[in-house]
Order: sequence, then structure tokens, then C-alpha cells
Amino acid sequence: MSNMKFLKEIDGWQTDSETKLLIKHASQITKDRIILEIGSWKGKSTLCLLHGAQKHGAKVVAVDTFRGSEEHGDVDTYAEFTVNINKYAEYIGYPANY
Ligand SMILES: C[S@@+](CC[C@H](N)C(=O)[O-])C[C@H]1O[C@@H](n2cnc3c(N)ncnc32)[C@H](O)[C@@H]1O
Repeated sequence: MSNMKFLKEIDGWQTDSETKLLIKHASQITKDRIILEIGSWKGKSTLCLLHGAQKHGAKVVAVDTFRGSEEHGDVDTYAEFTVNINKYAEYIGYPANY
């Protein structure tokens, strides 16, 4: 799926060009490899990696405390992360298992 416009609805930091780069690099990873993302926030960058990784079937492992960084204060992003991943992973053609 090339239309990733839904990403604009997800809270995150990356620019459009970073979105393209994440998808491009992830699409070059082969099936026998695992992409490890450290710092997923609400899943925006994770979805880009999942989208790219489906090209060759690479796996994506996302790691986060889901408590944000110091400047975010007292947050818990796990619920939003799971909603976003569940909502869109199947849509972009990638099964979500966690
Ligand atoms: C700038 S945000 C990541 C943004 C995300 N990649 C995106 O593009 O939407 C940084 C993330 O790192 C996570 N984080 C901070 N310290 C961490 C740690 N020690 N281990 C894992 N994740 C951590 C925070 O919870 C936060 O979600």
C-alpha cells in the first residue's frame, strides 16, 4: 500500500521525508533479518517500518518504556500504541503479534 496518508493522524515526530526514508530502508531488509526499533512512542515510525518490512517479510521488534522521555512528564503511551498498531498493521498488510 503506497498511500500512507493515515500516518498524519498519528502523533509522532517524523517529517514526511523521514517517513519515506524509514519505509525505504525497511524495504531493503531481507526476510532473515529483524529490524529493532528503540523508541516507538505511539507507533507512527513502527508502522513505517512494518510497511517497508513486508516487502521481503522481515520482522520488526518495537521496544519502548511507553512512559515517554523526561520532557513528556507522566505519560503512558502503550494503549495508543496498541490501538494504532492494531488498527493499521493489517491495513498495510502486516500481521501484528506482540
Ligand atoms: C521521540 S520518541 C520516539 C518517536 C517515534 N520513533 C516516532 O517517530 O513516532 C522517544 C521514545 O523513546 C522512548 N524511550 C525513552 N527512554 C527509553 C528507554 N530507556 N528504553 C526504551 N524506550 C525509551 C520514549 O518512551 C518515547 O516513546
